[in-house]
Amino acid sequence: MPFQRLLVTGGAGFIGSNFIRWVLSRHRDVSIVNLDLLTYAGNLESLADVDAKYGAKGEGRYSFVHGDIRDFDLVAGLLAGTPSAHPLIRSSAHPPNRPTAQPPDSVVHFAAESHVDRSIMGPVVFVDTNVRGTVALLEAARAELTARPRDFRFVHVSTDEVYGSLTATDPAFTEDTPLAPNSPYAASKAASDLLVRSYPETFQFPAIITRCSNNYGPYQFPEKLIPLMVTRAMRDEPLPVYGDGLNVRDWIHVDDHAEALWTVLQGGQPGSVYNIGGNAERPNIQVIKRILGQLGKPESLISFVTDRLGHDRRYAMNSGRMQKELGWTPRHTFEAGLAETVRWYAENRTWWERVLSEAYRAANALYLEPAK
Ligand SMILES: NC(=O)c1ccc[n+]([C@@H]2O[C@H](COP(=O)([O-])OP(=O)(O)OC[C@H]3O[C@@H](n4cnc5c(N)ncnc54)[C@H](O)[C@@H]3O)[C@@H](O)[C@H]2O)c1
Repeated sequence: MPFQRLLVTGGAGFIGSNFIRWVLSRHRDVSIVNLDLLTYAGNLESLADVDAKYGAKGEGRYSFVHGDIRDFDLVAGLLAGTPSAHPLIRSSAHPPNRPTAQPPDSVVHFAAESHVDRSIMGPVVFVDTNVRGTVALLEAARAELTARPRDFRFVHVSTDEVYGSLTATDPAFTEDTPLAPNSPYAASKAASDLLVRSYPETFQFPAIITRCSNNYGPYQFPEKLIPLMVTRAMRDEPLPVYGDGLNVRDWIHVDDHAEALWTVLQGGQPGSVYNIGGNAERPNIQVIKRILGQLGKPESLISFVTDRLGHDRRYAMNSGRMQKELGWTPRHTFEAGLAETVRWYAENRTWWERVLSEAYRAANALYLEPAK
């Protein structure tokens, strides 16, 4: 396995935390430094088991650094393998276990503002984090590779939303589909994709872009569709459904995404783009009714609300390149994966009740305007 010393950004978020757990539990020689700013979406409780098993008091292969991807000096120190030299590193609750014996050989970049509705309320932070943050990270990595050239990979984790919207009969997105983002979130991700794309071309920098469809699974912040609906249904609260509920998304279990990213990191071609999909297109309303069915709750909880501005109608992914070039296909079927996920939220009420803090409740107003 060529790349074993990972700097993961945004690893306290939903996909990053699942990716870290997936990798460390399967690959004994891998070590990970997790750099995360702990915004509202970052939660170290999602990594408590990982820290106990692989952190400083365990196997010593995992460490957490509280910081910002836009902080060039911090990132440069981490990439040089001398993180403890930087004054911003907080070493109390989750100390960097020991400076990595050798500097990282890869970056897996998750850190972002990730919620479409929040981007409609306030786009600026999306540009600041997703665009400026990504270019700051690229620059720190480029400087490091110039100072200490080595075999390296930079995997930029992006989304199918950069391709825009499909009609019911359009073919699925391929890697050659033109970018046509419709929300400020998607536009900021597309902008960051274009910056990442320019680095292999201009600097022979070993970057790879992945674009994935909608993820679901444990530890997802309950503002996203599936955990929002599950946690509201469990409390017998109305389930706000945008428009007619017939918007279609392709769903992928977060562990399948983790495996795909690991596969791309180890075998992907620098300068390439890889689409990652779950082969599970479902209308939102069907997903919601299934959740209600599993929880034994009535469909009368469904409440149609005014549609999201610029709401994309349909996403669908063609992951043929992942399958043909790298031999990856998703393992989970949507129905089994969803059932397992609903059970996880039922069994981990403490996790999501703590997440539903004051800050979240304020943002919750996003969803509650009744349909006109
Ligand atoms: N959720 C999905 O379905 C999905 C699908 C495809 C792609 N993606 C992409 O995957 C990545 C992760 O998504 P997610 O759903 O886990 O997001 P998330 O919102 O759950 O997590 C984002 C993480 O990034 C951290 N972060 C934000 N700004 C930061 C900064 N300036 N410096 C360091 N850390 C910072 C946050 O604290 C948080 O832990 C994003 O880039 C997103 O665009 C998500």
